[in-house]
Amino acid sequence: MKPVPILIDTDPGVDDFFCIAIGCAFRELFDLKAITTIGGNNTTEVTTKNALNILKLLHRDDVPVAKGTDSFLTRPFGRPVSKFHGANGLGNVELEKSDNDPAPLSACDMIYKTATECNGNLVVVTVGPETNLALALNKYPDLKTLIKKIVVMGGTTTTGNISPYAEANIYNDAEAARIVFASGIPIDMVGLNVTRLAPLRKSVFNTVSPDVRPEVRNVMEKLIEFRNEEAMHDAIAISSLVCDDVITWKNSYTYVIDGDSEKRGVTVTDFDAVTCNSRIAVAIDTSAYYKVITDMINNYC
Ligand code: RIB
Ligand code: CA
Repeated sequence: MKPVPILIDTDPGVDDFFCIAIGCAFRELFDLKAITTIGGNNTTEVTTKNALNILKLLHRDDVPVAKGTDSFLTRPFGRPVSKFHGANGLGNVELEKSDNDPAPLSACDMIYKTATECNGNLVVVTVGPETNLALALNKYPDLKTLIKKIVVMGGTTTTGNISPYAEANIYNDAEAARIVFASGIPIDMVGLNVTRLAPLRKSVFNTVSPDVRPEVRNVMEKLIEFRNEEAMHDAIAISSLVCDDVITWKNSYTYVIDGDSEKRGVTVTDFDAVTCNSRIAVAIDTSAYYKVITDMINNYC
C-alpha cells in the first residue's frame, strides 16, 4: 500500500509535538506533505518556530512549514497557555534551532496547494484551532472536493476543558470549526471524552531500548514530565490513522455552536441522524495507543 498523504495543521504545543513525531515516524504509512501552523497554545510566530525546530530534531527538515494567520476568524488570540505548554509552547524544553524558514506561502494556500497536488487523497490532521482550514474553505470553494478526510483533535461528548461544555481547539475558533464541520468533508472527531482516558506515562518507554534515538526520547520524557503524565490529546488523534484498534467510532451528524453564548464551542452530536457528516470517537483501546507510541520511537532507529 502506498503511504497516505497527510498534512498536519497544528499549534505546537506539548501534545502537538507527539502528533508531529507520529506523523514523521511511520514513513510506510504516512507521506507527510506539509505542516501548517496556527496560534492557540502560543502565538503563530512561536508555534511556527516550534514546528520547524521539532522537524529538525526528528531529521525531517524536508517537510515544509507554512505559517497561519495571527488571529482567529472573528477574535484575537488569547494569551499563551503557559500552564499546559510552558512559556515557549514546548514545556520550556529548548530545542536546537532550525535553519529553515517557513514556506513562502500562507497556511491557507498551502492547504489548497497540497490538496490539489494530492488529487483528492489528502488527509488533514487538525490538532489546533481550525482557522486555517476555514479560511481555505472560504477562499477555495472546490477544496471540499479535494480533501479525503479531516481528523480533528477537538470537541467532546461529555465535559469540556475551557468551559464546562467545550474543548479548547473548538471553542477558540468556534466560527472556524462550524465552517469545517459543515463543509461536507468526512470528519473523524477525536475529543476529550476519549483522550482524557489515556494518560501518557514515562513508563510507556520501559520496553524501548535506551539506544533508540536518546535525544528524541529525552525530549519526549521531559514533555511527559512537564504535563505530569497527563493525556497527550493530539497524539491520540493521529494514532487513529496508524492502527484501527485505537478508536471505536459512532456515526453522527455533528455541528458546532459558535457566537457568544455559554454554549460556545459545543460539538452537538446527533447519533440518530439519517445523514451523517462525521465519526465520533466513543471509546479508546489504550494498549493499542501505547503500542503506537512505542512503535513510533522504535521507528526512529
Ligand atoms: O484541548 C486540547 C487541545 O488544545 C490540544 O490540541 C492542545 O494542544 C490544545 O491546543
Ligand atoms: Ca494542539
